[in-house]
Amino acid sequence: MKITIVGAGAVGASCAEYIAIKDFASEVVILDIKEGFAEGKAMDLMQTASLNGFDTKIVGVTNDYSKTAGSDIVVITSGIPRKPGMTREELIGINAGIVKSVSSSLVEHSPNTIIIVVSNPMDTMTYLVHKTSGLPKHRIIGMGGALDSARFKYRLAEALEAPISDVDGMVIGGHSDTGMIPLTRMATRNSIPVTEYISEERLNQVKEDTKVGGATLTKLLGTSAWYAPGAAVSGLVQAIACDQKKMFPCSVLLEGEYGLNDICIGAPVILGRNGIEKIVELNLTDAEKDHMANSADGVRKTNGLLEF
Ligand code: 2OP
Repeated sequence: MKITIVGAGAVGASCAEYIAIKDFASEVVILDIKEGFAEGKAMDLMQTASLNGFDTKIVGVTNDYSKTAGSDIVVITSGIPRKPGMTREELIGINAGIVKSVSSSLVEHSPNTIIIVVSNPMDTMTYLVHKTSGLPKHRIIGMGGALDSARFKYRLAEALEAPISDVDGMVIGGHSDTGMIPLTRMATRNSIPVTEYISEERLNQVKEDTKVGGATLTKLLGTSAWYAPGAAVSGLVQAIACDQKKMFPCSVLLEGEYGLNDICIGAPVILGRNGIEKIVELNLTDAEKDHMANSADGVRKTNGLLEF
């Protein structure tokens, strides 16, 4: 199993590290445009192999896509991250050009690959890859919901004063501060709805804290987060590589599901060796359906800024 990660910045490097530590891939190629940078990250990570007990070979390359040939899965993290006070949507001008050219170079060398898009604004970048790469829809996946759901579970555990492993919950909708839909109604602690433990007011706070999860970290760190994004990507990569058939909310091209068409937005999917093996349609309440429609309007507005 060969995996390529484009972008050796903090998110790309942390993806590579978590994938290596889980030790299910034979090779991880990290590619970056900055001379020697990916090589340096790869060497540093390889020097953790004996300490962390993995055999995955990590290779760094400077802009040489021929070294990515035959990748089973590719992850696109390239582009600029947001700075404090910026929205993900403001990154579109620069990142759209980068994502378009990166995805076309990747597909040229790995026509059978599965693409995971991380670059922001993520739902729109995933849509751009759909429109320009020629890959079938089940092989294009946007990473956002897995990260947002992890942040949701963190906030739920905090409110419940419970260990995170007791908590389950999911965030659907767009990967933006206003577009995320944390499904509090379906969140549970040991199968019991969290609504039985947490007041409506506190639950609203959990929702709001979840939605600005990325922005809160950007303010604290001066740039966007990397550990949780890297771990979320590694979870998607492992589900595909190991054919786990696990369910994650991912940005996926909808064709009628949730009453939406011609848009990539977060919805639960089953991930296995073929990429997206099924889109799961949840039975949403009218209020949740309205949230999804509003979230889709926001994503469409950003999509409208794309030039193909
Ligand atoms: C985040 O939410 C990078 O969009 C990513 O942290």
